[in-house]
Amino acid sequence: MGQASGQATSGTAMWNPFANMASLAGNAISIVGGKGSVVLDADGREYVDALASLWYCNVGYGRAELADAAAAQMRKIAGFQVFEYFSNPPAEALCRRIAELVPVPGAKVFLTPGGGSDAVDTAGKLARAYWRAVGEPGRQVIISRTHAYHGMNAYGTSLGGIPLLTEAFAPLVGQVEQVPWDDPGALEKTIEAIGDSRVAAFFCEPVIGAGGVYPPPAGYLSAVREICRGHDVLFVADEVITGFGRVGEWFASGRFGLEPDLITTAKGLSSGYLPIGAVIASQRVAEPFWRAGSSEVFRHGYTYSGHPAAAAVALANLDLIEREQLVQRVAGLEPVLAAALSPLSGHQLVSEVRSGTGLLAAVEIAEGARAADPAIGQRLVLAIRERGVITRLLRGVALQVSPPFVITEQEISRIVEAFAGGLDAVS
Ligand SMILES: Cc1ncc(COP(=O)(O)O)c(C=O)c1O
Repeated sequence: MGQASGQATSGTAMWNPFANMASLAGNAISIVGGKGSVVLDADGREYVDALASLWYCNVGYGRAELADAAAAQMRKIAGFQVFEYFSNPPAEALCRRIAELVPVPGAKVFLTPGGGSDAVDTAGKLARAYWRAVGEPGRQVIISRTHAYHGMNAYGTSLGGIPLLTEAFAPLVGQVEQVPWDDPGALEKTIEAIGDSRVAAFFCEPVIGAGGVYPPPAGYLSAVREICRGHDVLFVADEVITGFGRVGEWFASGRFGLEPDLITTAKGLSSGYLPIGAVIASQRVAEPFWRAGSSEVFRHGYTYSGHPAAAAVALANLDLIEREQLVQRVAGLEPVLAAALSPLSGHQLVSEVRSGTGLLAAVEIAEGARAADPAIGQRLVLAIRERGVITRLLRGVALQVSPPFVITEQEISRIVEAFAGGLDAVS
């Protein structure tokens, strides 16, 4: 069989997410090991991982007890479905544990099998199903924010506020609206223009993550929470990044007093040792489905919902976070990270350093520098990696900092030195 001209000849068959395979094929960095906040590539190079992989490896790499938890469960039974009337001990225990941790009284927990995208699609469908179940089927519109990232499944793609990631695919899910990320008044006006009787839910990352790490402007979250209450719109906190400790409390919903109707989680639930997520429903949302005598069924689920091995790993991960007091550790490191990054804001290529919500920060590249050299962001990522630190570019504008909770102050200094060195090198 002949090869079409121009076809990749690198020998790799792996098609990477978000990658230009024409240039990447054969050049990917193969990660083969890790310990704490450091990962190792196939050529023997070590890097401080300023990303915790993709915001998830909160307990750090190389935690044998999480591997042991998976192995022990797999020896009993690795997987079994939980559709309709099956259950298993790790899934039951995990749901109970999450319900106890979350600042939502009487919470019910719907486990999802993959990352946050599954949780977001589940929450979007549950919000609409809730309104049908309580006799208001007209409430179907879901509102999200500019800069929002809610994953890459259908709901997440449709609700996304990063045009480059949505435009090629829209429309997927209908009846979605978008409001500016920082303007409560715009949310209220939009709800009023659509009409209360048509709006199902507002999706909100308490701290915007992939859109560039934007902590909430002062008063923003309490204002939008109140607006949703006033118009009886469900408030959905997307805590896929912020859940399970990243902002120095178990949930950003607790830190910011959000009392959400639904919370989406994934990533930090298992620190990524196995994929698993959870949608947390308040009493109000669960009630029509759980009330004695109700015939309502949430007709939704995934083959691997409630996967016993993944649930066992998540439980062991939560144990570890509690035992090592890692949430308190994040709270303690919040000002350390902010103070360490702060001098970078004086660099000519930097317009802003955003920090101050746990171990979440971003270094924004000045607009002028990006206009003068559209490749500057990627050149920076490379220059920083050459200095032994892994970061990445968010929305084409800012460098991500979201290290594992076990990061040391010395490693934070290494991150900042590599950023400073990289900025000087590309200047
Ligand atoms: C806030 C938020 N929601 C949803 C998602 C989607 O999660 P996943 O990529 O694990 O499907 C992400 C991923 O980064 C996220 O940051």
